[in-house]
Amino acid sequence: MEVLEPKKNQNEISGPLGLIFSRRSTGRLVEPAPDAQEVVDILRAGVSAPDHDSLKSTRYVVFTGEAKDRFGEFLAQRLTDRLAAKEATPTEGQLNKERTKLDRAPLVIAVGVAYAHETKIPEIEQFASAAASCENMLLAATALGYGSMWRTGEICYDPGVKEALGLASTDQIVGWIYIGSYRPDSQTQPVEDTPLEEFVTYFGD
Ligand SMILES: Cc1cc2nc3c(=O)[nH]c(=O)nc-3n(C[C@H](O)[C@H](O)[C@H](O)COP(=O)(O)O)c2cc1C
Repeated sequence: MEVLEPKKNQNEISGPLGLIFSRRSTGRLVEPAPDAQEVVDILRAGVSAPDHDSLKSTRYVVFTGEAKDRFGEFLAQRLTDRLAAKEATPTEGQLNKERTKLDRAPLVIAVGVAYAHETKIPEIEQFASAAASCENMLLAATALGYGSMWRTGEICYDPGVKEALGLASTDQIVGWIYIGSYRPDSQTQPVEDTPLEEFVTYFGD
């Protein structure tokens, strides 16, 4: 069967698909952050993700300004506590990394899933919906001209961090969505043509 290949480099595709193909993770983002209306639009993109039975189990916590620094102090304390449980202590470098974690962009949106239990929808599908919300927000940020990045790490699995976000220890943090403007020297890596035949099986004539 003939294998369909993209006709041109994905970066060159314009129109609505160009938006999808132009999204790239950008590690360090700067002011200006999206304004209040843009933040609402990005969150609307999140909540418009597919959601089996419309359970609305995805949660969003928006961090800006000094709240990011305060939360950074909290994350440093959590690292200290996690290591203390293993009879270890963090280095100053490790603590600083936690303190400045949310400084990597002017806007950070933590996305969690507060599992609905009185439902036939399995937790994995609720997690999938929250993950779709994350991608929707990355694409919304891209559409508005901002850089973005989805990050995870140990802080997603720390019950104390979950609690601080209003989640139960049995809930999940799906990601931390960093959004901001590109630095003047920022270079976006071009998308490589993806060899689809490695991943795709076609059933059909
Ligand atoms: C669930 C998830 C978690 C991620 N966590 C991290 C992370 O903790 N640190 C990081 O550098 N990138 C993280 N990323 C971003 C990926 O590294 C990135 O998407 C990948 O390198 C491809 O680059 P691109 O987004 O520019 O296509 C995460 C992506 C996903 C989907």
